[in-house]
Order: sequence, then structure tokens, then C-alpha cells
Amino acid sequence: MSDGQSSAASKGDPKLPSHIPLGVPTPARMYDEALGGKDHFAVDRTAVAKLYEVVGEEVARSTAMSNRHFLGRVVKFLAKECGIRQFIDVGSGLPTVRNTHEIAQEADPDSKVVYVDVDPIVAVHGRALLSGGNTRIVTADMREPETILNNPLTLELIDFDQPVAVLFIAVFHFISRADDPARIVAAFRERQAPGSYLAISHLTTEDMPQKIQDGWSAAFANSTSPMVFRDKEEVREIFAGYRLVDPGLVRLHEWRPDGESSLKTASVFGGVGQVDTP
Ligand SMILES: C[S@@+](CC[C@H](N)C(=O)[O-])C[C@H]1O[C@@H](n2cnc3c(N)ncnc32)[C@H](O)[C@@H]1O
Repeated sequence: MSDGQSSAASKGDPKLPSHIPLGVPTPARMYDEALGGKDHFAVDRTAVAKLYEVVGEEVARSTAMSNRHFLGRVVKFLAKECGIRQFIDVGSGLPTVRNTHEIAQEADPDSKVVYVDVDPIVAVHGRALLSGGNTRIVTADMREPETILNNPLTLELIDFDQPVAVLFIAVFHFISRADDPARIVAAFRERQAPGSYLAISHLTTEDMPQKIQDGWSAAFANSTSPMVFRDKEEVREIFAGYRLVDPGLVRLHEWRPDGESSLKTASVFGGVGQVDTP
């Protein structure tokens, strides 16, 4: 958002619901800033600036973009090569270029996509672009997976007797060890039909100097979701019950590169697994 909108917001913009946290940075709005979007406030820019100081603006922005490209390649792969027609995109973020439903519906206009995010601003800004027809937006906290799985909007669109891909792209590093990403994934896996998929990307400690890790932590420390680091093995453990498809859990730019989107990221890993049916 422009500074004008930002100050209007902090005075209580009547267009924004009162439960939107305006005085605290949120990951959805910080990510929007890093991707060059417009749906963020001064408080988010200040938080991201801390990250740029330590990590470097170019590196931070290209990490965000590389993650976005990874999401695009994953959805394309699932839609075109695996025949997936239903997606639940958890922690979907604000609408930006190449949203999940746009890619999925290129393969089949009937593809269904449920977007889920804890940040209510995603629904406010996303309603026009992301909702209606074969898409829905659910405002829910993934730490309570049943509120997503049993949400009437989810059930309106998703047939759990058919394969469904669940996407957790750049979200589990906002989930504490106590809240346990594997428990969250297990709740989805129990509902997924054979042939379903899971996709994850995660900022890890691999090849990450302590100073850079501290930079990421400081940037998110005062946000609604402080950052939680895991190593690559811990991320692999979240795939329990799924069989990783080639090339496994790898650096994002190494995951089925298509030549167009191979921005390098040292420490963010991603992978796709298929429900392992005995
Ligand atoms: C870095 S953005 C990733 C957006 C998108 N998945 C992508 O990769 O382009 C992280 C998103 O996760 C959301 N998020 C964080 N904690 C969450 C929670 N407990 N439940 C649902 N969404 C959450 C944030 O609001 C934010 O939109």
C-alpha cells in the first residue's frame, strides 16, 4: 500500500476489518514487499529493511521470488504431469503474479483451489482476485488443521474421495516445534485419497551463517509469526507418510528447473511427496 494508505490504515481505514493487525508486521505483508507488491504498510517495510541490512536486499528479494517460482513449477507439475485437479494452498499469502489457481486452471479450467491464510488481509485483498467460481479463500490457522478440513468453504469445493494436493509453501518456518508441522500434515494425510500429494518449501539452516540466521530472526521477531529454523533432516521428517518424488528434497532452484525460473537460493529447500499407500 502507498504511504497514504498506510497512514489511513493506522488511523483506522474503514475498508479494513478491525481485526487486521496494523501496528505489527505480518509475514504475508512482508513477503508482499519483498516480491515488489503494494499491499503492505510502513511497519512491514521497516521490518523487511532489517532483513535487507543483514542479508542484502537483492538476496532477500531473489529468495522470495525463487520461492514463488518453485510454487509455480510445483503446481504446473502436479496439474499437468500428475493430473491433480484439487489444491489446498495453506499459508497462500496475498495475491500476486501467477497464483495457484491461474496455473492449475491453465491445465484444466475446472481445477479447484482453496486458499488458506491466517492473516485476514489475504481475504480482504484476495476476495476479488482469488475467490469465486472454482476458488475459495478460508481465513484459518493451520495450527488447527480441522478448522481448514471441516470448513464449509473447503467442503464446498474439495472432494476428499479424489486426489488433492496440499501446499505448505514457505509457511512451516512460522510454526514452532511445539505446534509440530508433522502433526498438521498428518491431519491432512488422514483425509487425502490415494494419489494425493504434499508440497513443502522451508527456509533451513543449511549453509546459513549464524549472522544471516540472526538477520532473518530479527526481521520477524516482532511480527505476528516469529521465525523457526529447521535443518534439512527436520524438513524431511515432515514428509512422513509420503514418498518424495524426484529429485527429492533439494534447494529450490534444483527442483525440476524449467530454465525460466532458476534464481539460486542457498538455504531454502523444497520437495513434493505422494501419499504413500501400502
Ligand atoms: C512467506 S508467505 C508464503 C506465501 C505463499 N505460500 C508463497 O510461498 O508464495 C507465508 C504465509 O504463511 C501465512 N501463515 C503464517 N502462519 C500461519 C498459520 N498459522 N496459519 C495459516 N497461515 C499462516 C502468512 O500469513 C503468510 O501469508
